[in-house]
Amino acid sequence: MPPADNVMEKLVSLAKRRGFVFQSSEIYGGLGSVWDYGPLGVELKQNIKERWWRSMVHEREDIEGLDAAILMHPKVWEASGHVAGFTDPLVDCKHCKNRFRADDPRLTGTPGQPDAQCPVCGTKGTLTAPRLFNLMFKTFMGPVEESAAVVYLRPETAQGIYVNYLNVQQSSRQKLPFGIAQIGKAFRNEITPGNFTFRTREFEQMEMQFFVKPGSEDEWFEFWRHERLRWHEALGVRPEKLRFHRHGPDELAHYAKDAYDIEYEFPFGWHEFEGIHNRTNFDLSRHQEHSGKKLEYLDPATNERFIPFVVETSLGADRTTLVVLCDAYHEEEVEGDKRVVMRFRPAIAPLKAAVFPLVNKEGMPELARRIHDGLRRRFNVFYDDGGSIGRRYRRQDEAGTPFGITVDGQSTQDQTVTVRDRDTLQQVRVAADQLVEHLADKLQG
Ligand code: GAP
Repeated sequence: MPPADNVMEKLVSLAKRRGFVFQSSEIYGGLGSVWDYGPLGVELKQNIKERWWRSMVHEREDIEGLDAAILMHPKVWEASGHVAGFTDPLVDCKHCKNRFRADDPRLTGTPGQPDAQCPVCGTKGTLTAPRLFNLMFKTFMGPVEESAAVVYLRPETAQGIYVNYLNVQQSSRQKLPFGIAQIGKAFRNEITPGNFTFRTREFEQMEMQFFVKPGSEDEWFEFWRHERLRWHEALGVRPEKLRFHRHGPDELAHYAKDAYDIEYEFPFGWHEFEGIHNRTNFDLSRHQEHSGKKLEYLDPATNERFIPFVVETSLGADRTTLVVLCDAYHEEEVEGDKRVVMRFRPAIAPLKAAVFPLVNKEGMPELARRIHDGLRRRFNVFYDDGGSIGRRYRRQDEAGTPFGITVDGQSTQDQTVTVRDRDTLQQVRVAADQLVEHLADKLQG
């Protein structure tokens, strides 16, 4: 494989060329660290989200789904500690007006002192002392821009779950332990974004809060961290590229008693893409205190009332999509030719198959169209009749399409087609009327 920087450059370029990810508002020069998903990217991310939802909500009796609004009462963020504590220390250069995190490794000297040097313009003594900067985006609700109407774009989806936990519990008649899962957008005014879609200002989270009896949280914390690692392996991410990182005391978020990150070895190093947090009863207690509403659970077995403890699993949908893109990217030689192939697990690949007439004559396009129209009712498939068959295969290799179906001269005689496997390059002949079963079988899991 080529060096790391090079891999990211190639991936960003492939993502644009093939329609996975585009820079937001590109024709205006782009918007810093905001990205759009193209035709293939939206399918890939959607497949990942659906897989998460299926395994978390549909396959478990003890987890319910929720879709809370992005805008919430501003007091939510006071109670959660985000207004006071969701901050990064920043320094400004008074000369070039750039802004950095105070822990930016490129900074030399002590910000605020004459020895500090700006990493961008190189001027000495122009950096301010660190000031705390809140990462939440603010906006105004209603027609008048006054402070009473300030609302925030949520920086995590979790709070929508906490404030609804009794609504969900009572309406679904769940008993502890049970969880609530949600997929939705979150926003953070990140100061040092970068590395493509790794750290962005608008992103999606897939979060699950598991409510448990006090005293059982450590056991559930262990359960969920192993369960989440297993999920990523089942997604097809290479196990040797995954590891746990346990937070030290100085890394723990304000709400957490214990936390593990699941990290992936990106081309730019090991970084977190999921957090498993033991949040104790911090959030629910704070909401009870700030709202004045009782958020206790009544245990039907013992008649005890208590505030549940929470184990959280918090995964970024965009960051997982980036993990999948990085993990799938392969360069290899095939019959003396270089090819780039995205080895997505077939079940999450954006396109499941592409249908090609070998040549655009002798009844092949008509049969290929009929096959394509039949398959598209079941799978996301693509029709391509442009260029040599070799070029069409290469294009689908870059899109990560697991199967290439070619209609050739024999097909019009006996109604069979060749099915090429993206990874092994082996071709088998399959009867056209058996294609749905053939693909369904290969796309499982
Ligand atoms: N509710 C807990 C929470 O939000 P977090 O560790 O701040 O915890 C969880 O975020 C996950 O959300 C991260 O592991 C990452 O996948 C995703 N995430 C957080 N900030 C992000 C950003 N700026 N861009 C993309 N994904 C982000």
